Amino acid sequence: MTLYHHPGGGWSVRLMRKMDLAPVQALFLDCLKEFDWRGPASEELVRLRRTFLASEQFVAVEPQAGIIGFITVEEQNAYIPHLFVEKDWRFAGVGRGLLKVAREACGRPLTLDVDRPNVAALKAYEAMGWKVSAPAGDTKRNQIRLVGP
Ligand SMILES: CC(C)(COP(=O)(O)OP(=O)(O)OC[C@H]1O[C@@H](n2cnc3c(N)ncnc32)[C@H](O)[C@@H]1OP(=O)(O)O)[C@@H](O)C(=O)NCCC(=O)NCCS
Repeated sequence: MTLYHHPGGGWSVRLMRKMDLAPVQALFLDCLKEFDWRGPASEELVRLRRTFLASEQFVAVEPQAGIIGFITVEEQNAYIPHLFVEKDWRFAGVGRGLLKVAREACGRPLTLDVDRPNVAALKAYEAMGWKVSAPAGDTKRNQIRLVGP
């Protein structure tokens, strides 16, 4: 079922299915190459798979390109462990669309932790009206906790 459709972009958001697992993981690993401050990708992948067991997941899909983004959502605490958009599809509203669906699923403002060196993501969240929340993030992991509108 389509939860959100971007009329101009031709892509939609729906619940993640089993068949999406491989492309979602591939997208995740590709994006992680930009996170040179993070540890081994294999550990991040284990963390992602663990999150799959305790969250809802939504994917953004474009008919030709396939999976172009995904989000994981812990609905009990309205927390977003992962939000990743394929490089070629950034600045096209995909992140905003995935967050909109997650926000609607939770019915209240979302929170997430963003790595301090992740300047691009910090700018994106600022543009979308997110604010720094108190208490501020997990300082051991060099993150800032943000709360959405
Ligand atoms: C952060 C991320 C999810 C944003 O996704 P996106 O699809 O490019 O975001 P959108 O196109 O929906 O943009 C939403 C707003 O943020 C702005 N924005 C997005 N990236 C930006 C950047 N690098 N610098 C400044 N503004 C940015 C957009 O211009 C837009 O604002 P506007 O509506 O006022 O024009 C994406 O860059 C990404 O996947 N990065 C790698 C993974 C990551 O860092 N995830 C976040 C972990 S917490």
